[in-house]
Amino acid sequence: MSVSDDLDRIATDARQALTAATDAAAVDDLRHELLGRSGQLTTLLRQLGTLPPDERPAVGQRANEIRRELEVAIGERLEALRLTDLEARLATEALDMSAPGRQLSVGHVHPVQTMMRDLREIFHAYGFEVFEGPEIETEEYNFELLNIPPDHPARDLWDTLFVAEPGSVEAGRPEPAQDGTILRTHTSPVQMRAMRALDAPIRVITPGRCFRYEAVDAGHGFEFFQVEGLVVDRDTSLADLKGMLEEVARALYGRDVRTRFRPGYYPFTEPSVAFDIGCLVCGGEGCPACKRSGWMTILGAGMVHPAVLRNGGFDPAEYQGYAFGMGPDRMTMLRHGIGDIRILFSADLRFLTQFGGGS
Ligand code: DAH
Repeated sequence: MSVSDDLDRIATDARQALTAATDAAAVDDLRHELLGRSGQLTTLLRQLGTLPPDERPAVGQRANEIRRELEVAIGERLEALRLTDLEARLATEALDMSAPGRQLSVGHVHPVQTMMRDLREIFHAYGFEVFEGPEIETEEYNFELLNIPPDHPARDLWDTLFVAEPGSVEAGRPEPAQDGTILRTHTSPVQMRAMRALDAPIRVITPGRCFRYEAVDAGHGFEFFQVEGLVVDRDTSLADLKGMLEEVARALYGRDVRTRFRPGYYPFTEPSVAFDIGCLVCGGEGCPACKRSGWMTILGAGMVHPAVLRNGGFDPAEYQGYAFGMGPDRMTMLRHGIGDIRILFSADLRFLTQFGGGS
């Protein structure tokens, strides 16, 4: 028998087998038997080399024609089977138009974002506008311009995540980027950006995400939010700051909330204060949530340091300002009695869906 006869026989058999195949799996098997790596047609094509050279082109051409023909036929058969299958299903399955629809779950705002929205609204009512800055900052803006020189012990207050020098990670020796870029450790650098961009009087809040090299625990995350505030104007005093923050506390936690100011320390404010509210869990008697003090600190604040005003382009003899930085994560925890900050960033729906009404 010649190779040519073999070819014809394979083609005839294949056509018959294809018509006889009643499901896609059978067609697939057939494809494999014919055209697969060790399929009949493939094997035959390999034998072309044993033919006398003058016969090879004609037989080769015929073999390729058959191959193409079978490929097309297989594709058509598969499509035909798919349609028959579909028709059969349509004939047996009825569509019940009265069946109840599938419940769509509608998302809602994350409780921390709800807190940030509330803060934006409250401050908006007092004439503050939103001014945003970059999450990747320079050391200069994050520290130097805020009166925190290199090597100053005050830098220990912020555990910094550095952006790596390009290539240094791949080389197995990560080094801080030479251009001094870091992930901002607080939103205070945006104060500087606002002062350099805007004219007095300035009233801005600067909500955003911050990052620190923290060992993560119930009270600390390596990423968290802050809402910074900055006012620069003539005749601004600590009394203005005090009045403003008391209004914010009342708007957030109710008119009966108790507040107090304590001395604090920040390099970019002088004097600096910590602002506490009466513990929302125990009402002031002392409990584990407030470390038995009856008070909870919600923010740091102070009068903008003259050096910082100067860096921002303002003459401290003419202008004063106050600034504050609060932590909406912590404030959200206080609002809802949440004991562990990690759950805020967990994307756990069992937790998040409890706040559906709050958006
Ligand atoms: N940047 C400070 C921090 O992250 C918070 C802060 C304190 C901001 C006092 C201020 C301020 O604007 O006046 O710990």
